[in-house]
Amino acid sequence: MSRTPSEEYRAYNVWDAPTRWFHWINALAVLGLISVGVMLLNDDALGLSVGGKVQLKQIHVALGYVMALNLIWRFVWAFLGNRYARWRAMLPYGPGYWGALRSYATAFLSGEPQQYVGHNPAARIAIVLILFLLLLQIATGLILAGTDLFWPPFGKWFAGWVAAPGLDSALVSPLASNTMDQAAYKAMRAFRSPIVTVHLYAFYALAAVILTHLVAVIVAHFGDRERRFHSMVSARFI
Ligand code: HEM
Repeated sequence: MSRTPSEEYRAYNVWDAPTRWFHWINALAVLGLISVGVMLLNDDALGLSVGGKVQLKQIHVALGYVMALNLIWRFVWAFLGNRYARWRAMLPYGPGYWGALRSYATAFLSGEPQQYVGHNPAARIAIVLILFLLLLQIATGLILAGTDLFWPPFGKWFAGWVAAPGLDSALVSPLASNTMDQAAYKAMRAFRSPIVTVHLYAFYALAAVILTHLVAVIVAHFGDRERRFHSMVSARFI
């Protein structure tokens, strides 16, 4: 149906290609990490062997490397990308930010949410929370990759800690307990225990944030007469 001139909408290029690639690689990696993480949590119910569990951890950590590298790339792009990709459009700061947040909240509560091209002021708070949780998962996950698989960047150090006396630490394997000194291994397990707990609670928090994000996108899409929420797919906000 054709629109009268007063009904015309402008088309904006919002999310540039690197930002959209980042978003969808991150979404797929996190979905994979959650799926494999849930399997690891239910290893007994799934009847996994020790070898099967180690393989799942390897898949999980490989996805974790992808997520971490993709996130580092996004941080670089926040200095180089278009105005919607930059730090000042992403994080809750800058001139007029708190006033914009107040008026966004007031309009939202009165049932007439303001339309924003790019991130709205409330979304910018959610982004800080998501970035914090992802960075927490990367930090704790990389330590666990070291303690569980002896994989980089900390694996060599943990292998040196638990290696059986006289054994080259490069030969320490999660599948061969005779490559490890049992007292050192026990001490290393005690060290990693609170890190597993943080990784697990951050997973619960992330799952809640992701669900909220999906519900918000669906509500925004179906609550909008013109169905304008496809800009993360096509870049354009019409
Ligand atoms: C969105 C990000 C992530 C989520 C949602 C997630 C989720 C999980 C969950 C649910 C578990 C099972 C916890 C348990 O068995 O008690 C787990 C374990 C693990 N994760 Fe992640 N993870 C994420 C990122 C990472 C990253 C980036 C790495 C490393 C590069 C990593 C490494 C590990 C390792 C080594 C384990 C095994 C720990 C164990 O034996 O309990 N994770 N993860």
